Amino acid sequence: MKSVVKIEKGLEGVYFTESKICKVDGTLGRLCYRGYSIEDLAENSTFEEVSYPLLFGVLPKKGELNTFKKDLSDKRALPKEIIKIIEESVNKCDTMHILRTAVSALPLYDKNLDSKTSDKLQDSINLISKVASITATIGRYLYGKKYVAPNKNLGHAENFLYMLNGVLPSKKDSRILDKMMILHAEHSSNASTFSALVTASTLSDIYSAFTSAIGTLKGPLHGEADENALRMMYAIKDANNTENYINNALNKKERIMGFGHRIYKTYDPRARIIRSLLTEMQKSNNTEIKNITEIALAAEKMMIEKLGKSHGIWPNVDFFAGPVYRYINIPIDIFTPLFATGRSPGWCAHIIEYLENNRLIRPLELYEGKTNLHYKKISSR
Ligand code: ACO
Repeated sequence: MKSVVKIEKGLEGVYFTESKICKVDGTLGRLCYRGYSIEDLAENSTFEEVSYPLLFGVLPKKGELNTFKKDLSDKRALPKEIIKIIEESVNKCDTMHILRTAVSALPLYDKNLDSKTSDKLQDSINLISKVASITATIGRYLYGKKYVAPNKNLGHAENFLYMLNGVLPSKKDSRILDKMMILHAEHSSNASTFSALVTASTLSDIYSAFTSAIGTLKGPLHGEADENALRMMYAIKDANNTENYINNALNKKERIMGFGHRIYKTYDPRARIIRSLLTEMQKSNNTEIKNITEIALAAEKMMIEKLGKSHGIWPNVDFFAGPVYRYINIPIDIFTPLFATGRSPGWCAHIIEYLENNRLIRPLELYEGKTNLHYKKISSR
């Protein structure tokens, strides 16, 4: 007799815990971190100021923010062995493999990790800081250049661009990246965060949880979509080809990267904010930027007409991110590591919150295989 168990494939619609970190309203297209709307934070705040409430629960006072910024900047420098890992693996494998490997090697340089005094908040600050340095250094070696030591006087996004390019970035580029990092900082129990929590719930360490999250973010259905969306724009080549290209892809039942979301059945509010940066990009003298911007806007219009209201498939955070990253001259191969860089405070915040009231995450599966078989020796099979 078939069991009457209801299976929620992909855990769709399943609540597994309570949280006070982030609210996603997929029907109205609203997102807030610790009660503050994403629009408000993106307009008025900085990545550091947003990371603080994600980790500590409330907006920082001036002194608290200064201490937090100093803690982050003090931890930016990479051990020489981590730089070596990056140097030796660049151009040999996917940049997310490099990021994951480098992050999993970080505990070798954390004296407190296995001691009882290991402080999850300090580990979090170390991770948020070091993941940014690792990603920038991967980009640096992709350019065939050497490691640039961090500059303690710069903000998080500004220092990222400095370590990537080796020159002080413009205020404008730093602010664009800062905004992008705010928009990526947190998003409730998405696949990578959940993955981090599964690992953390076994009482493993935070670096292991982070490594799980990075492995999960790597997939094209999650973090890698920004890179693939831009690759599609390059393949389209000209805005006039957009309709043909997308129709062909849809006829072949292919997914258009950067569209659709498990929770948002309307326009992703983060995509809307990123889209607003495109107005300025349309006026760019750079042919690549002008072209991909026009293609992105043509694809957005067409997809909304075809699949928006009718199927609930709208642009997500990954769709316009690629053109914006290219606008500030970030190489496509580090888009997904950059997503991990932005998402670091969200992963840490959830790990810390979940462990306050931990319960091992261990769902069930319905066994549908055979039973009562008798073992046969290999010679008689
Ligand atoms: N292009 C074309 N069709 C799509 C797309 C898309 N991007 N997304 C969903 N669909 C279609 C599916 O083919 C499916 O159609 P069917 O019912 O005829 O088979 C229907 O919409 C429902 O899709 P599901 O996969 O069941 O929806 P789910 O909630 O599992 O998918 C997901 C969400 C994985 C994000 C999906 O929309 C997708 O693959 N998008 C492209 C990848 C992407 O952009 N990922 C980034 C998401 S945001 C983030 O992780 C940061």
